[in-house]
Amino acid sequence: MKRIVFVVQFIAFLLLLTACAQPSVTPATATPTTIATATPTLTIAASATPRATATAAPSATALPPAPTRMPTTAVQAAIWAKWQSSAHGNTYDLGKGPNTYCSRCHSPQNWDPASKVDAPPNCVSCKFASDATVRIAKSNQLVSQADWRNIGCDICHPMKDGLASKEIGWFNKTSGKYESVANATALCEKCHTDTDVLKHRIDLGKATHTGLQCTQCHDPHSTQASCSATKCHPSLSKIAGHDAAHKNVSCVACHDASALQVGPDNTTKMWTTWQSSTIAGMKMLNPARSHNVQKQADCARCHFKDNPWNLSSSVSKTP
Ligand code: HEC
Ligand code: HEC
Ligand code: HEC
Ligand code: HEC
Ligand code: HEC
Ligand code: HEC
Repeated sequence: MKRIVFVVQFIAFLLLLTACAQPSVTPATATPTTIATATPTLTIAASATPRATATAAPSATALPPAPTRMPTTAVQAAIWAKWQSSAHGNTYDLGKGPNTYCSRCHSPQNWDPASKVDAPPNCVSCKFASDATVRIAKSNQLVSQADWRNIGCDICHPMKDGLASKEIGWFNKTSGKYESVANATALCEKCHTDTDVLKHRIDLGKATHTGLQCTQCHDPHSTQASCSATKCHPSLSKIAGHDAAHKNVSCVACHDASALQVGPDNTTKMWTTWQSSTIAGMKMLNPARSHNVQKQADCARCHFKDNPWNLSSSVSKTP
C-alpha cells in the first residue's frame, strides 16, 4: 500500500486559505517560530496589559476593564503564572495570523468584527513558514505583538476592580458585554468549535467519557491535562498493552473509539491518533488527539499482517 502523507502543522490555516495560491505544503516539523516567550513570573507582560494605543485594533467596541494591576492574592498570582505559560497566554504567532480577523479566537480583544478575508494571495495578514516576509491583507490588519492581548482573564471572567472575578462569563466582542455560560465547557466551546472551514470541536464520543466537562481533565488556566496525573487513572491494571513495550504509545492510540488512523508522531516520538482531510485533492494527515475513547482496545489495530511499522503481526492478549 502506497501511503502519501503530507503532514502539516498549519492545517486550519490551509483549510481556510484553500482558495489562495499556496506555497508548497509545509513539511512535518514546521513549528511556528515566533511564539512570545512564556515568562511564568508575576510581572504583567506587555502582552497582557490593556492596549496602550489604538493603533492595531480599529474596532470601536468598548473594551471591558482589563487586568490592570498585579494580582494581590496568592490564588490570583498562582493562576496568573499558570495562564502566562499556557497555550492561551502566548498566542502571538505570525503563522497563526495575528490579525484583526483570526484574533476572534486567538486574541478576542484584538478582533474587529468588521474585518474580512481578502482575495488570494494575501487572504489574511500572516506569514507562511516558506514566506520571506509577512503577507499583508487589506481587509484585516496585522496586530503588533505589543498590542496583542492573547486569551486574557477578561475573556472568561467578568472583571472586578481590575482583577478577574471568580465567576465565569464570555466576553462577547460584538456587543462589548459579558454573556453567561451554562458551564465551563460552554465557555471552551466558544472557540474550540467547528466553523465552515475550521474544525476544532472536541468530540467526547458516546462511550467512556461522555458528559465530562473539559475542566474535569484540563486545568482552565494552564490548559494541561493528563490521564494518569489525575485521580482518574493513577495506576492501570497490569495487562498486555499497559506494559513497558508500549511506553511510547499514548492511551488514545489504543483506546480511540472513532476509528482514526494511528501511528507514530515523529515530533513527539509518541504513537497517537491522526486526523485526515483532503485539501485541493491532496490527502493530509495531522496528529490530533482523539477525545472519543472506549474501554476496549484492539491489538490488531497496529499488530496486523504487513503493517508498515514492522510490528509483530500476531500478538496475544494473554501471554
Ligand atoms: C472559531 C475560533 C477560531 C478562529 C476564528 C481561528 N482559530 Fe485558529 N485555532 C483555534 C483553536 C481553538 C485552536 C487550537 C486547536 C487545537 O489544538 O485543537 C487553533 C489553532 C490554530 C493553529 C494551530 C494548528 C491547529 O490546527 O491546531 C493555526 C495555524 C491557526 N489556528 C490559524 C488560524 C488562522 C490563520 C486563523 C484566521 C484565518 C484562525 N486560526 C482563526 C480557533 C480558531
Ligand atoms: C479560557 C478561559 C479562562 C481564562 C482565560 C481564565 N480563566 Fe479563570 N477560570 C476559568 C474556568 C473555566 C474556571 C473554573 C470555573 C469552575 O470550574 O467553576 C476558572 C476559575 C478561576 C478562579 C476561581 C478559582 C478558585 O479556585 O476559586 C479565579 C480566581 C480565576 N479563574 C482567575 C483567573 C485569572 C486571574 C485569569 C487570568 C490570568 C484567568 N482566570 C483566566 C476560565 C478561564
Ligand atoms: C477565546 C477562545 C478560546 C477559549 C474560550 C478557550 N480556548 Fe483553548 N485555545 C484557543 C486557541 C486559539 C488555542 C491555540 C493557541 C495557540 O496554539 O496559539 C487554544 C489552545 C488550547 C489548548 C492547547 C492545544 C494544543 O494543541 O496544545 C488546550 C488544551 C485548550 N485550549 C483547552 C481549553 C479549555 C479547556 C478551555 C475552557 C476552559 C478553552 N481552551 C477555552 C482558544 C480558546
Ligand atoms: C477525559 C479527559 C479529557 C476531557 C474531558 C477533555 N480533554 Fe482535552 N485532552 C485531554 C488530554 C489527556 C489531552 C492531551 C494532553 C497532552 O498531551 O498534554 C488533551 C488534549 C486536548 C487538546 C490538544 C489537542 C491535540 O490534538 O493535541 C485540546 C485542544 C483539548 N484537549 C481541548 C479540550 C476541550 C475543549 C474539552 C472539552 C470539550 C476537552 N479537551 C475535554 C483530556 C481531556
Ligand atoms: C497498547 C494498547 C494500550 C495502551 C497504550 C493503553 N491501554 Fe488501556 N487497555 C488496553 C487493553 C487491551 C485493555 C483491556 C480492554 C478490555 O477489557 O477489553 C485496556 C483497559 C483499560 C482500562 C479498563 C481496565 C482498567 O485497567 O481499569 C482503562 C481504564 C485503561 N485501559 C486506561 C488506559 C490509560 C489511561 C492509558 C494511558 C495511560 C492506557 N489505558 C493505555 C490497551 C491499552
Ligand atoms: C496503537 C498501536 C498498538 C496497539 C493497539 C498495540 N500495540 Fe503492541 N506495540 C506497539 C508498538 C509501537 C510497539 C513497540 C515496538 C518497538 O518498540 O519496536 C509494540 C510492541 C509490542 C510487543 C513487543 C514485541 C513487538 O512486536 O515489538 C508486544 C508483545 C505487543 N506489542 C503486544 C500487543 C498486544 C497484546 C496488544 C493488544 C493488547 C498490542 N500490542 C496493541 C503498538 C501497538
